[in-house]
Amino acid sequence: MLAELEEIKTDALAAIGKIDNEPDLEQARVNFLGKKGRLTAASAGMRDVPKEQKKDVGQKLNEVRTAITEVIEEKRAALIAVRDAAAFASVDPTLPSRALPKGGLHPLTHVLNEAVSVLRRMGFALAEGPEIETEWNCFDALNTPEDHPARNESDTFYFENGKLLRTHTSSVQIQTMLKEVPPVRIIAPGSAFRRDEIDATHLSAFHQLEGLYVDKSVSLADLKGTLEYFFREIFGSKTEVRFRPHFFPFTEPSFEVDLKLHATGKAAKWIEIAGCGIVDPAVFEAVDGKRGDAAYDPGEISGFAFGMGLDRLAMIMYGIPDLRLLIENDVRFLKQFA
Ligand code: DAH
Repeated sequence: MLAELEEIKTDALAAIGKIDNEPDLEQARVNFLGKKGRLTAASAGMRDVPKEQKKDVGQKLNEVRTAITEVIEEKRAALIAVRDAAAFASVDPTLPSRALPKGGLHPLTHVLNEAVSVLRRMGFALAEGPEIETEWNCFDALNTPEDHPARNESDTFYFENGKLLRTHTSSVQIQTMLKEVPPVRIIAPGSAFRRDEIDATHLSAFHQLEGLYVDKSVSLADLKGTLEYFFREIFGSKTEVRFRPHFFPFTEPSFEVDLKLHATGKAAKWIEIAGCGIVDPAVFEAVDGKRGDAAYDPGEISGFAFGMGLDRLAMIMYGIPDLRLLIENDVRFLKQFA
């Protein structure tokens, strides 16, 4: 039987050595090691081997099985290597890969991030309020009477329950003062909505950044200094800023702030960028009335407020001639800011 086993081994090694494909190799494995294979058949002969030879024959059997298994595995690895090499033959793995499309921030997000970071450095904390507001927070508390044009049906988006899409972020001034006591130094960026005709400088959904500073003896000088510093920090130390007397119900005195816009291909012109002023005592009185205390006693404290158009800031920062570009989401436009 030892001779028979040796012969099986020799046959197997010879046969496997000649094989050049994976199906033939599998067939050879079945022929020699499978349930009905030659080695299995031969091992059935163990029964007839005299007892004193069983150990030797058993060892031989194991040796042959191991030898054949090893040769099969080596052959299999070699065949797989050949197959892989063939698959890669037509591929050049050193070629640069196809570029993946890269995302980027919207220009408005860039402007917002920059504005917020400058104002935070100046000590303003972020505040927020809902976009769907009560008339009281949006108008009454801000000293804006019933017959004020801003409250008109044709200027404002009203809901049936009397609430409205806030027409400005100034409502966050009220939200904040109802929750906190002075000193208050907050900014509130967010969306605002008006029934405006859409054109190059107006959108019906737009973005503002509100600011409010209430403390003991806050003055107009603080307001001017803050805004001038802010705009120069954002647009450079040579930025031209202009304060024009104006009227807002919630500030007295009030101003509009203009910046010089240098849009590509257009003559430089002043563009209105913000409203601001010294908080009207009537606003503090409304807040205290609602709070039921005297936290905002106008005899004790004062404040300034401002609200600027973020979309217009983006126009100036990037020389964008038309606000509509900001909402059309044309990739050719947006790509320039990524
Ligand atoms: N809310 C005003 C607007 O939307 C802007 C504004 C003006 C905000 C004066 C203020 C302010 O805080 O003091 O046109």
